[in-house]
This record gives sequence, structure tokens and C-alpha cells, in this order.
Amino acid sequence: MALVLAENIGRVALLRLNRPKKLNALNAALIGELNAALDKAEADEKIGAILLTGNERAFAAGADIGEMEKIKNYAEVCEENLITRDWERVTQCRKPVIAAVSGYALGGGCELAMMCDFVLAGTDAMFSQPEIIIGTMPGAGGSQRFARAAGKAKAMEMCLSGRMMDAKEAERCGIVARVVPAGSLQRVALETAQKIASHSLPVARMIKESVNAAFETHLSAGVQFERRLFHSTFALADRAEGMRAFLQKRKPKFKHK
Ligand code: HXC
Repeated sequence: MALVLAENIGRVALLRLNRPKKLNALNAALIGELNAALDKAEADEKIGAILLTGNERAFAAGADIGEMEKIKNYAEVCEENLITRDWERVTQCRKPVIAAVSGYALGGGCELAMMCDFVLAGTDAMFSQPEIIIGTMPGAGGSQRFARAAGKAKAMEMCLSGRMMDAKEAERCGIVARVVPAGSLQRVALETAQKIASHSLPVARMIKESVNAAFETHLSAGVQFERRLFHSTFALADRAEGMRAFLQKRKPKFKHK
């Protein structure tokens, strides 16, 4: 059985984590399939955005605890860089990646969602960094991305207590971009991804780089970087087409060039 189901819908690559009996717990095989699917979507010129989702019960309930339990010592996990070695492929995607979260997004599942460009959540979504409960801690960026999105107080409380937060709280504290009724999540997420994929892909890439730079630079350097990227859009046929189409009161026909 495929652990990741991939389907192209228009210009969107829909990737569905598919280990339902284990609440989509993330094991090495699933991560391998996810990374291969991301590589394929990135290489496909007909794809303009990637939508990552799970099922109604779980986006992903974390790293596979059974798989981790087999690792016996520090030397093994550290030398082999197990678990964390190839778990952050999604952060290397140049195309926009949206997470649509229903049900549990726990531990590595919450971390995977936060690695995406933004998270849309159903009202039934639950987020947590519960690693402390099983004697470990976030290992795929949870403490860092939670702190950057939600601030120190929430990150500390969530990582130290291991408690779950619901979708509304996650939206209030910046983990989630938007909450929608659980039954509408897949439709809204696909529409959102289609809308993003209809825009100029090179411009979408520049916007990703620019927003991400906000987390790596101080303000004046970030604004300067943004200014240079803005100037760069004037080298694109899509920039000329977008402005011309507005003035001619028609939809733009982007060539993604
Ligand atoms: C392995 C898991 C799992 C996990 C659930 N399952 N989460 N297996 N790893 N992370 C399995 C259960 O063992 C069970 O399998 C099946 O999925 C259904 O789960 P139940 O526990 O029976 O369901 P329920 O009672 O509804 O409870 C749901 C739950 C609970 C609250 C989400 O499953 C839970 O607490 N799961 C663990 C969450 C967690 O600690 N995640 C963080 C992992 S550490 P069987 O075969 O018995 O039916 C982590 C580190 C990341 O993520 C750092 C590096 C990336």
C-alpha cells in the first residue's frame, strides 16, 4: 500500500499521507515516499503548488514511536542522523506548499505542518508537541518554528506540558493561517492551492524567498532583499502580462516565465 497518495488536480499536486491505521505516524518509509513525491511535483512544470494533507482523523500523529523505540543509544541516532536526516525536504521546495490539517498534528506531524508555507486547519484539528510525555523533545524544528510563530510563552508551555491546542487557539497564536469548517477543509484548501498555482510561478517563488528571509535577516537587509526581488519581477514576461491584462480588463495568461 502506498504510504503517500499523489494526484495532480489542475496545477496542484495533492499529496495525501496514507497510513490511516497508525494515524499517519511518520516512519522512514513514509518520509521516503513523501520526499519522492515532493521531488516529482517540484520537477513537473505543469505543477504550480503542492497541497499536503492527511485524513479526517489525523494529519500525522508524530514520528513512529515503534520505530524510534528500536534505536538503542546516542551513538546510533547521532552518527546515522536517524529520524532527522531527510525529514525537512519540504522546506527545500521552491513551489508553494500548503498543509491542510484535520484531526491530529502531533510531534513530528505538527513539525511537518509548520515546515509548509502555511497551514489551513479544519475546526477539528489538534496540535501539540507531546514529545516530553514519552521522554524526548521536538527534533524536526518544533521548538524553533513554534517559538518563531507563536512566541516564547506558547512555545515553552506547549513543549514543556505536551498539551494539545485546538484549531482556534492555533490560529490565534500564528501556527495556523485560517480555520475553516471541518467538512469544507479539503475543498477550501484545494481552491486556495489552485488560486496560488494560477499565479506566476517565478513570482510565487520570489515571494516565498522574501517572506522566509524575514526569519533569517534583520529588517533593513530583509527590506533591501525584497526591493531587489521586486525589481527582478520587471525581468519577467509574466509581470508585463499581469499589468497589461489589468489595464485591458481581462484575466492574465501567465507563461510562468
Ligand atoms: C506510532 C502511533 C502513533 C505514533 C498513534 N499510533 N500515534 N504509532 N507512533 N506517533 C498508533 C497507535 O499505537 C494505534 O495503533 C493507532 O495508531 C491508533 O492510535 P490510538 O492510540 O489507539 O488512538 P486514540 O486512542 O484515538 O489516541 C490518539 C492519540 C494517541 C492521542 C493521537 O495515539 C497518541 O497519543 N499518539 C502518540 C502521539 C505522540 O506522542 N506523538 C509524538 C511522537 S514523538 P494500534 O496498532 O495499537 O491500533 C515525535 C518526535 C518528532 O513525533 C521528532 C523528530 C521528527
